[in-house]
Amino acid sequence: MPSSDSLAAVAVLRLAVGLLSTLVNGATTTGVLLWDLGLFIYNLLSKNLPANRVVPEGQPGAGGLWPQYQPPQEGSSRCSCPALNALANHGVLPRDGRNISFQQLNQTVSFDLSDIDVHNGIEHDASLTREDSIFQKDQGKPSPKLIERLLTGGTGPNGDLTPADLSRISGYRRTEAKQQNPQFSLSFNHKMFGSSNSSTLLTIFGGRIDDLRPFLLEERIPDGWQSRITHPMGLTIAEFNSTVFKVELGIKEELPASLGFGGVHEDQTKKHA
Ligand code: HEM
Repeated sequence: MPSSDSLAAVAVLRLAVGLLSTLVNGATTTGVLLWDLGLFIYNLLSKNLPANRVVPEGQPGAGGLWPQYQPPQEGSSRCSCPALNALANHGVLPRDGRNISFQQLNQTVSFDLSDIDVHNGIEHDASLTREDSIFQKDQGKPSPKLIERLLTGGTGPNGDLTPADLSRISGYRRTEAKQQNPQFSLSFNHKMFGSSNSSTLLTIFGGRIDDLRPFLLEERIPDGWQSRITHPMGLTIAEFNSTVFKVELGIKEELPASLGFGGVHEDQTKKHA
């Protein structure tokens, strides 16, 4: 039986390791956020890139020229993320969506796209382009019904999507999923993931329906497309999060009815509802 002295030594060691890892994590997060703030300020002070020169020369998509699109073949792996699927459909990632290496971690670690769809890992209920996993096990399959709802819900110029549209449609989708799915769950973190995903449609795609139609329905990058973010240092966390919070805080359907916003009594995905 271990002596009380050795138990105390183990306890002290664990406390010390715990404290050290908290300090290291805190310092890393602070470092990343400070670096990001620097890039944000640099972006504010610099000239934007020309809209047709966003992708650097020599990279796939430079000059709007993307490798040829091929839809997934029998046996290909696809996932719940339209962007990763589109990169595989264009051959920027392996076309079969398998054995993708995490180069930054270790050359031997590899994954298939469908591996990221572990439910309530990153993948969650109430997505805007996928039925909940209880109804659609294969999260690589887009839902044309949900996507059409999203694409016809824009109130911006040319029917483009605005942050208010994404809040309204997300709110409706969450309420609907909660009513239909007996195993519905959506933690605070998953709500933030959801609003972050929506915000890529507003930032990187500028909310433009003409580009989002092929991207979401076929998971194809439109000919000539380049990111709508033209800042020389790209999309910083600071800039991105301002859209994420706008979308998330604009979701009113989940607030108590006593505040005058609660409940969904009609299809609030509709414009001007
Ligand atoms: C390594 C980088 C990425 C990973 C691992 C990733 C992973 C995921 C996952 C797991 C989901 C599903 C979440 C859900 O259940 O709704 C998702 C959704 C989504 N992702 Fe990504 N993603 C990445 C990068 C991107 C980028 C760069 C974009 C935009 C250009 C993007 C756009 C989207 C969109 C729009 C959705 C929402 C789909 C929906 O609501 O149904 N993703 N992503």
